[in-house]
Amino acid sequence: MCGIIGYVGKGQAYPVLIGGLKRLEYRGYDSSGVGLIPSMLNGKIVLRKTDGKIANLEKLVKSQPIPESSLGISHTRWATHGAPNKVNAHPHSDNTGRISIVHNGIIENYELLRDKLKKRGHKFKSETDSEVVAHLISEYYKNDLKAAVIRAIKDLKGAFALGVISLDHPDELVAARVGSPLIIGIGKSENYIASDVPAILEHTKRVIYLKDEELAVLTTDNVDVFKFNGQKVRPKIDRVTFKLDAVAKGGYAHFMLKEMHEQPDVLKQMLNARIKKDAISLEGIGLTDKQIKAIKNITVVACGTAYHAGMVGKYIIESLASVPVTVDAASEFRYRNPIVDKNTLILAISQSGETADTLAAIREARKRGAKVISICNVIGSSLARESDGILYTHAGPEIGVASTKAYTAQLCMLYLLGIKLGAAKQHLKPAEMKRLIKDLKQVPKLYEKILANKNSIARIAKANSHFGCFLFLGRNINFPTALEGALKLKEISYIPAEGYAAGEMKHGPIALIDEYRAVVCVATQSDTYEKMISNIQEISSRKGNIIAIATEGDKSIRKHVHHTIYVPKTNNLLTPLLTVLPMQMIAYYISVKRGCDVDQPRNLAKSVTVE
Ligand code: M6R
Repeated sequence: MCGIIGYVGKGQAYPVLIGGLKRLEYRGYDSSGVGLIPSMLNGKIVLRKTDGKIANLEKLVKSQPIPESSLGISHTRWATHGAPNKVNAHPHSDNTGRISIVHNGIIENYELLRDKLKKRGHKFKSETDSEVVAHLISEYYKNDLKAAVIRAIKDLKGAFALGVISLDHPDELVAARVGSPLIIGIGKSENYIASDVPAILEHTKRVIYLKDEELAVLTTDNVDVFKFNGQKVRPKIDRVTFKLDAVAKGGYAHFMLKEMHEQPDVLKQMLNARIKKDAISLEGIGLTDKQIKAIKNITVVACGTAYHAGMVGKYIIESLASVPVTVDAASEFRYRNPIVDKNTLILAISQSGETADTLAAIREARKRGAKVISICNVIGSSLARESDGILYTHAGPEIGVASTKAYTAQLCMLYLLGIKLGAAKQHLKPAEMKRLIKDLKQVPKLYEKILANKNSIARIAKANSHFGCFLFLGRNINFPTALEGALKLKEISYIPAEGYAAGEMKHGPIALIDEYRAVVCVATQSDTYEKMISNIQEISSRKGNIIAIATEGDKSIRKHVHHTIYVPKTNNLLTPLLTVLPMQMIAYYISVKRGCDVDQPRNLAKSVTVE
């Protein structure tokens, strides 16, 4: 859960590294550092490290300028072992100061290795697990950096993506990965390593997605890839299709705001690509029509927002295809001896495809014989590679830590999957299917309508931004929307917020209600509308401040609530696609009003690559 970038080439390393770090800051932002081999060798790797955001590193380098260099590594950190401070910031070096490394992941057996190395005279400076890697490489180093890295890796347990440089090899950058993502960028007389594509997109679109248990040696004009047994492999070079403006704010105040506005287009593109003459194409799913028809039960594994998408997926699939769906938090799945076998279809959902818990869950499921298909946004991610089938959402890079467009894209894919499954099982009649597809195709336009109402939503959000506690309520298919609304608010505004099934309110949460609470109620027209109105009245009589998300035209709801945000009328099953938008916007505008860091909230990182 950190970002790394490395450079070797004819140009200057530092500008590439600092620019790349800024694009990787979403992965962690509590401290950062850079390590460079000076072009005029002076017996030292130049290190600059500091706590805080990349801006602090830039300031430091301004005050302590660095020499010219065309080989370097750098790192932005999300602390796991050891506080976020200068000493624990990467790169870490061995005792000679001739070898430095950057690491993303966790070295599980670092204590054991550190004790052994200490006995052999190694002196440690930091509290991190990562420092052990530098010392270990040094321990095995005999004039061959690649060989020393391969040997050191044999001792490591855990997950890692590594970048390694040595003063003895002033034109060589060594990289390796197990579990954590790492890509290689191929340039002209320069090559790069990075945790993610945006870091290098400005320089090249040609990338190698390094596979697990592969190591690469990069020089100015060459990249060689090896397996850990030393065998050379011929890597596939991919061409990245998204453009640089996909990873820039493009005039918006925050990435989150930009990404919320991208949602109509993301959905439009997915629907255009996947719906062909009223039939759904799930190319990539890795199942024949016969296999799709034979699906008997599905277990969804996912975390956070993706888990909420899975919960909506349960309602969709059970209603359209009558196939039972279990939804598991991936972090719980593997520890509860799940009943999964070759007859279970695992559906993993993840924006990044690198979430450690989700990966661990699918690995466990595969061990038990299950087939895994995934809904994922990041092309070439670990999840994509380890699944039997992959449904890419193609939402484009999501940089804001709070997931928005990735969520609605996941929902859209779940509708497509539900319709496909329902049709295959003949549970969904052709006429119903046609109607649903027609309604689904309308959703991007309806999004535009909600987004156009942003000033009024912003006003409502700001008017409620002083509340110290929020409750989000929804019923049926909008119960997960309530959970998602609470999660969004918590993570970017730090306001305690709970999501609840409205019917559960009287079993406990109603005790929270008084004039100091705000309650956001999803009360769109549906079979449970009347029940929701009863809940609203219960809250109102206890003086709770209510924001209702209601269906356009429902004037009568206004008399029960303080504020109403309308969403256009649509098929009830599709409402989660619409109702989540005001939730995202409420969280966003409250966060802005309270002066929080919207895109990089405290203690969080975009992809959680550690358990
Ligand atoms: O990359 P993933 O979708 O697997 O990430 C899962 C969660 O970490 C993620 O959704 C997290 O909850 C978001 N920050 C929520 O906005």
